[in-house]
Amino acid sequence: TDRYCVFGHPVGHSRSPRIHKAFAEQFGAEIAYEAIEAPLDGFAGAWRDFVNHGGKGGNVTVPFKEDAYRLADVLSPRARRAGAVNTLVLGKQGDTYGDTTDGIGLVRDLQAHAAPLEGARILVLGAGGAVRGVLEPLLAARPAVLMIANRTADKARQLADDFADLGETTGGGFDEIVGTFDLVVNGTSASLGGELPPLPDDLFADAALAYDMMYGAEPTVFLRWAAEHGARTVDGLGMLIEQAAESYFLWRNRRPETGPVRELLRSEI
Ligand code: ATR
Repeated sequence: TDRYCVFGHPVGHSRSPRIHKAFAEQFGAEIAYEAIEAPLDGFAGAWRDFVNHGGKGGNVTVPFKEDAYRLADVLSPRARRAGAVNTLVLGKQGDTYGDTTDGIGLVRDLQAHAAPLEGARILVLGAGGAVRGVLEPLLAARPAVLMIANRTADKARQLADDFADLGETTGGGFDEIVGTFDLVVNGTSASLGGELPPLPDDLFADAALAYDMMYGAEPTVFLRWAAEHGARTVDGLGMLIEQAAESYFLWRNRRPETGPVRELLRSEI
């Protein structure tokens, strides 16, 4: 039985074991997938320990994505660009390969919801690690413009500069948001505290989609606000499942079907 895991702290509520077992069942494969709470200052040791006990690959969640980035012997180009690793793969020679599937997970889920991407005006809220991790694939979808707005305006400007070679990017504070947008992605952690960034009332273009990278049993305050202002709304459950599917593919070279797993998890939230 091949062993995989997710590292986090805390990690008890992670849905990843559920998702990966459901994927494995699609192929009639026997895998073990567990949640491991690594010590905050001991991520590298936890990975080595896991490998020494037969571990083949691991997912990495908060707060270890930068630790995993530093630990990897080889990084994928997209992980390098994101500055973070969410998937570790044990190589044949015992070396550790680091990749990130968060960004492609977001874009796959956006595509599954027929989100406006190519030629669209996209606004991303937030400028932390979660946002940095998704900018490359969002820009690869060739939007007309991608604006990053953040509470700390300078961080958004810096991030826009860092990705300016990939497309038309601008960055600034929430008070610098101008025009309407076809797609607004909330990548701030404000939803966790039930808070809403200060957004203009006329933010959404016709048929706009509002996407929150968070999810829960109830819509986030951002999605409630977006629905009240005329946008179609989607939460981040699908992103979670799509990034997991891409990790599964990296480990086992098989592409799981995500639709049925999304239904399954939705019914269990
Ligand atoms: P993550 O890994 O989730 O991106 P992070 O790097 O700490 O975590 O980034 C958190 C993001 O949420 C930042 O963009 C942060 O804004 P600042 O850069 O100004 O700190 C944003 N954020 C957190 N709480 C917020 C709130 N109450 N209102 C608006 N933005 C908030």
